[in-house]
Amino acid sequence: MLIQDPTSRRIKLDLPLREGILESFVETRDNLFRSVEAGLSSSSPNLDYRLLYDATGSRIFEEITNLPDYYLTRIEALLLMQNAAEIAALAGPVPLVELGAGSGRKTRYLIDAFEASYGSARYIPVDVSETALKMASTTLSMRHPRTQILPMHAQHQMALSLLESIGPALVIFLGSSIGNFSEDEEDFFYAQLNRRMPFGGFFLLGVDLIKAPGIIESAYNDSAGVTASFIANLFRRLQRELGLELDMNGFEFKTRYDKRHERMELYARFDKAIRLSSDVSNRSVEVVPGEPILVEICRKYCLCSLDKHLQKHGLRVLRVFMDQNEWFADLLITHRDNRDF
Ligand code: AVJ
Repeated sequence: MLIQDPTSRRIKLDLPLREGILESFVETRDNLFRSVEAGLSSSSPNLDYRLLYDATGSRIFEEITNLPDYYLTRIEALLLMQNAAEIAALAGPVPLVELGAGSGRKTRYLIDAFEASYGSARYIPVDVSETALKMASTTLSMRHPRTQILPMHAQHQMALSLLESIGPALVIFLGSSIGNFSEDEEDFFYAQLNRRMPFGGFFLLGVDLIKAPGIIESAYNDSAGVTASFIANLFRRLQRELGLELDMNGFEFKTRYDKRHERMELYARFDKAIRLSSDVSNRSVEVVPGEPILVEICRKYCLCSLDKHLQKHGLRVLRVFMDQNEWFADLLITHRDNRDF
């Protein structure tokens, strides 16, 4: 567990450390198989979006964030650059715990501001992708010698359960990654956060806002085909790791904006059937030719209902940082009954 030593205000740990990475997440082939089997045998075939982020997937996602039409990362980086000092001032000298840290490129503005305000910073990036964690830790530690970095290879769930032992922290969840969650998962996440976040803690949440569907669609359907290769990579991975039988020649990538649920939906389709066979039993599941497989949803938010949703879970929005076009927002959140604000 991660334990804060009150005398040194340093973070100690006694979980297995490998190459400086705090380890609590191992994805076994068995788990992978079960997840894919359950998804593909569903009446509307789907796959867990987390499977997109293997080493190659994480690298391709970085490419997506640089696409001209992918406005999310660019706007959020600007919002953080402009408002990091205020965020640091409001949160106080607390450690930063970033969920789904990715490359950590946007976070450096926050770290800069914490270093400038408090002389040093503590940063705990949490990610299921080891590649992303290593990228983030190496670049950040070179740029920020005054920051103590403690990478954690874990799922969000595990990281949230460690919050109590870290003490008040600023939990960071950027990029509208929360948009990948189903409504139930989002509910559960806020409930957990409210319960686990020690009093005096803060939560910085980045959300993509509802806007003209055309703008959103262009962000997820680039003409260079980077998003298509992001999705194709998932199937090559399953082919390699689980022996999923498929023909990539018949692969097609489709997107759709669902106005009713205000969410982007990303699908894969194959000309020929795809089949997953177990090598221990004679079970097998098949997806028929042409049947769309849902691989990711990216939900879009309206500030008003998000605010109500957070309130319901005992959380309160302290500040909203938003661009002029109101395309993207970063929300600084605390416990509803934190009377210091
Ligand atoms: C990583 C969830 C923030 O929803 O915009 C981008 C994922 N997928 N293009 C998003 C994604 C295809 C991305 N998030």
